[in-house]
Amino acid sequence: MEKLLICGGKRLEGVVRIGGAKNAILPILAAILLNKSNDEIILTNVPRISDVAKMVEILRSLGAEITWSGTNMAVSPRNLTGYAVEEHLMREMRSTIFLMGALLARFGQVCISHPGGCAIGQRPIELHLKGLKKLGAQIREQHGYIYASCSRLTGADIHLDYPSVGATENIMMAAVYARGVTVISNAAKEPEIVDLQNLLNKMGAKIRGAGTDQIRIIGVNQLHGVEYSVIPDRIVAGTLMIAAAATGGEIILENVIPGHLEAVTSKLRETGVQIREESERVLIKAPKRLRAVEFVRTLPYPGYPTDLQAPIMAALTLADGTSMVVENVFDSRFKHVGELNRMGAQIVVASDNRTAVVHGVEKLTGATVTAPDLRAGAALVIAGLAAEGETIVEGLEHIARGYENLEGDLNKLGAEIKRIRV
Ligand code: UD1
Repeated sequence: MEKLLICGGKRLEGVVRIGGAKNAILPILAAILLNKSNDEIILTNVPRISDVAKMVEILRSLGAEITWSGTNMAVSPRNLTGYAVEEHLMREMRSTIFLMGALLARFGQVCISHPGGCAIGQRPIELHLKGLKKLGAQIREQHGYIYASCSRLTGADIHLDYPSVGATENIMMAAVYARGVTVISNAAKEPEIVDLQNLLNKMGAKIRGAGTDQIRIIGVNQLHGVEYSVIPDRIVAGTLMIAAAATGGEIILENVIPGHLEAVTSKLRETGVQIREESERVLIKAPKRLRAVEFVRTLPYPGYPTDLQAPIMAALTLADGTSMVVENVFDSRFKHVGELNRMGAQIVVASDNRTAVVHGVEKLTGATVTAPDLRAGAALVIAGLAAEGETIVEGLEHIARGYENLEGDLNKLGAEIKRIRV
C-alpha cells in the first residue's frame, strides 16, 4: 500500500501549470459516443487521472477504440455496439450515470447498474430519470439495474427542481438527437457544462444557453468528428491556491481561467491572501497567518464549490479567529473533520451535519490520517503541508481519482512529500 509522507512547514513558492478538468472530461467522454459517423474524436489536455482511466475502460467495453498518449486521446466510436454497462465497471464510478443520456440517444436503449450512494452522501438520480422520461424514455428499475428505452426522443420543456450538474449534462446529451426543441430551465451553470456545450456544438449539435439557468437544444440528425481541448481544472487550481494560502506561500498558476475561480479568489482575499488575475494566470501571495472568515457556504456555481470545502477548511484551522463552514450541496461531506482534529484542529460539527465551526489554532501537528474521499484527501495533504512534523496520508486511491500528480506539483513548489510503500 502506498502512502504520502509529508514533512510539514515548507512555504510553497514557484510556478505550476494546471491540467484538464476531471469534471469536464468525464461528461465529454460520454458525449463523444453520440458520434455516429466514422470520424475520430481527438481530445487534448486530457488529465491522467484514475477516473478517466476507468471511463476509458468502460468505453472500450462498449466497443470504442481509444488511443491515449500523454494528454492526447483519440476515440473512434465507429464500432460501438454495446449499450449495457457492466455492473462492476459502473460501481467503480458514479459519473457513468451520464452514459445514460448519450447511449439512449444513440441506441434507443440503455442498461446501467444503479449508481447507489457514495462517500459524500446519498446522491440520488431522480432528476436525471425525470428529465429523460420527459423526453419520452420509458424507464424501468429492477434488481439494482436501470433500463431505459425509446423509439426517438422528443424535445420537451424540463424544469429541474435543483440545478444538478450531472442531470443537466445527461439531459443535454439525450436531447441532441431528440425531435424538436428541448429547454432545460433551472439548469446548473458550472463551467464544465459550457465546455460540454462547446464540444457538442463543434460536433454539429445546436445548443445554446449553457452557463445560464436556461439551456436550449435543437435536435439534429447527425454529429461528426472533432478536435477539442478540455478546459483547465478549476478545482485543482483552487486546491493549490489554498495550499499556498495555508503555508504562507507565493505561487503562480498557469493555464487557468481566472473567471472560473471567482468564488475561491474572493474567499481567499477575505482571509488576507493577495491574488492577481491575468488572462491565463493567477498569482497568489499569502500572509504568514490567515484571518478567519465569517462564512464559507457551498453552493451551485457561481457559488463557493463544494469540492473545495474540505481544502479551505484545512487552511482555516490555522487562521486567527473562528470560521463557519456550511455544506449546502451534499449531505455527508465532513468526513475530513475527524482526521483534521487528530492533527490538532478544533472543529465542531453541528448535529445537522451541515455546519462546522472551525476555531483557529496556533499549530497543527503531524499525524497518520486517512483520506475518506477525493477532496477530503486533498484537504489532509494541505493540513500536512502546514503542520509541524511528519504527516502520513493513507487512502491515496481517492486522491488519484482527481489529481494527476498532486505531490509532484507540490514538490515542484518546494514541499517535501515522499511516496512510501508500506
Ligand atoms: C458534480 C461533480 C462533483 C461536484 C458536484 C457539485 C462531476 C463528475 N462531478 O457531481 O465533483 O461535487 O457536481 O458541484 O461533474 N441530486 C439529487 N437528485 C439528482 C441529482 C442530484 O437530489 O437526481 C443532489 C445530489 O444528491 C447533491 C446535489 O443534488 O446533493 C448536487 O448534485 P449534482 O449537482 O448532481 O452533482 P454531480 O453531478 O453528481
